[in-house]
Amino acid sequence: MPNKFKADFPLLSRDVDGMPITYLDSASTTPKPRAVIDAVTRYYTEMGANVHRGVHPLGESSTTAYERARHAVAALIGASPQEIVFTRNATESFNLVAQGLGLSSDDEVVFPASEHHSNYMPWRLKAKTVLVDIDDEAVPRYQQLKERLTPRTRLVTLAHVSNVTGVVAPVEEWIAIAHAAGVPVMVDASQSVSHLPIDVRKLDCDFLAFSSHKIFGPSGVGVLYVRKDRFETLQLWNVGGGMVNYHGEDRYEVREAPFRYEAGTPNIEGAIGLGAAIEYVRAAKMDDIGKHSRALGAQLVEGLSALPGARVLGAHVPSDKRVALCTMSLPVPSMTQANIARLLADSHGILVSGGFHCAHILHHRIQLDGTLRASAHLFNDEEDIERLIGALRDLV
Ligand SMILES: Cc1ncc(COP(=O)(O)O)c(C=O)c1O
Repeated sequence: MPNKFKADFPLLSRDVDGMPITYLDSASTTPKPRAVIDAVTRYYTEMGANVHRGVHPLGESSTTAYERARHAVAALIGASPQEIVFTRNATESFNLVAQGLGLSSDDEVVFPASEHHSNYMPWRLKAKTVLVDIDDEAVPRYQQLKERLTPRTRLVTLAHVSNVTGVVAPVEEWIAIAHAAGVPVMVDASQSVSHLPIDVRKLDCDFLAFSSHKIFGPSGVGVLYVRKDRFETLQLWNVGGGMVNYHGEDRYEVREAPFRYEAGTPNIEGAIGLGAAIEYVRAAKMDDIGKHSRALGAQLVEGLSALPGARVLGAHVPSDKRVALCTMSLPVPSMTQANIARLLADSHGILVSGGFHCAHILHHRIQLDGTLRASAHLFNDEEDIERLIGALRDLV
C-alpha cells in the first residue's frame, strides 16, 4: 500500500542524478510537509511584521500567529504556554540552562557517555561532567545513575531517544531517582518528540529541549520547556530588546517568563512553521506515528543485523523500546562508513548518515571509527527499508 504521507512532502519527489530519493535521514533533519512551507509563506505574504511591538494590524497578526505556535508546542507536550521558551535550536536550549543555572566548576552534571555533543559540551564548559557508562552496543548502563549522584550534583540530563542507537531511555525512572535526591532533570527530546507522545507533567521533568527541524518544522527554532517553578532558578542569559518592560538609567524591569529569555527579534516565521508542523503530526496522530516508527525500527534492526559482519548498535533492545533509527558498522574493505553512505546516495539515491553523528565519545568508548545510520519516519515504508538492505547486501 503506498504511504499516504509521502505526497505531502515536496522534497521527496525530487531525484538525485535521475534516481528517485529514498530519504532515510530524518534523525539528521526531517523534510517539510507542504502545510509547513505554506505557513511560512503565509507569514511573508500576509503578515511580515515583528512580534510584541507592532501597533498596526500586521504586527497584531504576526504576534497572534507566533503566540499560537507557542500554544501548539505547549499542547503537544502537555505544558502550559508560559512554560515554553523559543530558542534557536535544541543546542541553544541546553546552553540557556547551563548558563542560567549559574553552574560552577565544582558543580556536577550527570549524563550518559552516549549523549549528543549538544547535551555534553554546554555542561563540560561550565561544570564537572560525571558520566554514566555505556555497554558495548552504546546503550547506557542506566542502573549506574544512583551511584553517580553526590551532594554536588546540580543536574541530571539524558536523551529520551539516542540519536545513535534509537533506544528509548527509562526517563521516568531516572527522573524519580534524581528527584528523590533533590536533583532536577533535563530531557533531550530531540529524537523522541516526533516519534513518541510526550507529556511533561507525567514525566515530571524540570527542563526539556528539542528542535523544530526534527519535527517537520523549519530550522532555526528550538524549544525549551521549563517547569514553571524552575524559572526562579534560571538567571538571565541573553539580554536586549523585547525582554524588558522598562529600561531607565537608574533601573530596568524584565518581562515575565518566558519572554525574558527571548531577547531580540525571534525567528517568527520559523515558530509559525513549527506550529503548522505540530498541527500536521497531531493530525497524523502521535500514537499511530509511534506504532509505525517501532515497526520500521524492528525491520531495520532485523534486516541490518542479517548482513554479514554487521555490528548493529543496541540490537538486543526490544522493538517496543526503539524508534525507527538504526546504526551499525559494516565491514567493507577500504571503505569508511561515511564512504558507504556516499555510495548509497550516489549509486542508489538512498540518503543516510555516515560518521560520528555528533557523538565522538560514544564512538571512542565502543571503539568504532564511525558508523552508518538509517532513520525513517512517517513518510517511509517497508519498501524503503528493503531497498536499503538490498543495496547493502549487494555491497558486502
Ligand atoms: C539527541 C540530539 N540532541 C541534540 C541535538 C542538537 O540539535 P540541534 O542541532 O538542532 O540543536 C541533536 C541533533 O542532531 C540530537 O540528535
